[in-house]
Amino acid sequence: MSTQRIFNFSAGPSMLPLPVLEKAASELTNYSGSGMSVMEMSHRSKAYKDIFDETKALMREVLSVPDTHEIIFMQGGATGQFAAVAMNLMGDGGCADYAVTGNFSGLAAKEAEKYGKVHICADTSPKKHTYIPRQEDLDLSPDASYLHYCANNTIYGTEWDYVPAANCPVVADMSSNILSKPVDIAAHGVIYAGVQKNMAPAGMAAVIIDRSLLGREMPITPTILSYRTTVEKDSMYNTPPTYNIYILGLTLKWVKEMGGLSGMEELRELRSGMLYDYLDNSSLFSGCAEAGSRSKMNVTFRTASPELDAKFVKEAAARGLVSLAGHRIVGGMRASIYNAMPPEGVRKLVDFMGEFELHNR
Ligand SMILES: Cc1ncc(COP(=O)(O)O)c(C=O)c1O
Repeated sequence: MSTQRIFNFSAGPSMLPLPVLEKAASELTNYSGSGMSVMEMSHRSKAYKDIFDETKALMREVLSVPDTHEIIFMQGGATGQFAAVAMNLMGDGGCADYAVTGNFSGLAAKEAEKYGKVHICADTSPKKHTYIPRQEDLDLSPDASYLHYCANNTIYGTEWDYVPAANCPVVADMSSNILSKPVDIAAHGVIYAGVQKNMAPAGMAAVIIDRSLLGREMPITPTILSYRTTVEKDSMYNTPPTYNIYILGLTLKWVKEMGGLSGMEELRELRSGMLYDYLDNSSLFSGCAEAGSRSKMNVTFRTASPELDAKFVKEAAARGLVSLAGHRIVGGMRASIYNAMPPEGVRKLVDFMGEFELHNR
């Protein structure tokens, strides 16, 4: 099988580990002697049930999910969870605290406003979302049903290095940093993640929820968004995204083989360290996020001019370093360096940045 792969710095969907893709390809038309693809299997079949159960068990093991918490898979991506969280946890006439540190936490707060009162307990927009607030800066309300934060801001390149504390359940959007480092699951009421960065193909959210929070949903909650129903039906109230769950299982096996979350953390330190070291010593490129708030998954940077940024992105692509343009709302560059990005890809990027700097001073 060809291993002529380029280094894809896309923010998501993004690179999946090559061994995962190769394993899936080898089983594409005939899974384990079943004579059919996983895509073609009934979700109620024994063969599929085994895949599903193994994936869930691996997720519990790899992420050290305690017995107090359930694992479910839902459709609608992370955006579906913006509504699900509010409808399941706010309570009728309730209110919730939202820390707005970027685009997606802003969208989550906006969605929640449809269902109850939203209190913005932190808003980093006046400083263009270049930093993460400290615990003492959070203006928490005494009667919030939950506190929502986005653990890694994919567009702005900032990442929380602590779990905010509150007198209510803490809800985290971990779409762009789940599986990249150990996480204190018990400190969270709900963790959700769109799977298309560190887990599987797009189209699903993985959700971890404290069982004691089940059954609080508003009567108008669509059944498909109900946490309680999804737990009761073991994520099979309707046909689940069967193939995504299968790929997630392969990814989790790969993470385990690579040393689990501490192995992933070592790699993320290595990759992001190479890039930030370079940026800190460059006279052409500068990092966008404040030093203490930098993301180790999405590194945002720019030159002094949009024209030079565009030239860099174009020339990098010609070298097999693709999808380096920043998000359209911020411009500049963004290198998304998730679990599946080999350190060699970052080394090549840094080498190319050095070369580009030499020729464009
Ligand atoms: C942190 C974060 N939250 C939410 C989303 C939205 O995810 P989805 O497209 O799965 O709805 C994204 C997408 O990139 C994201 O990075």
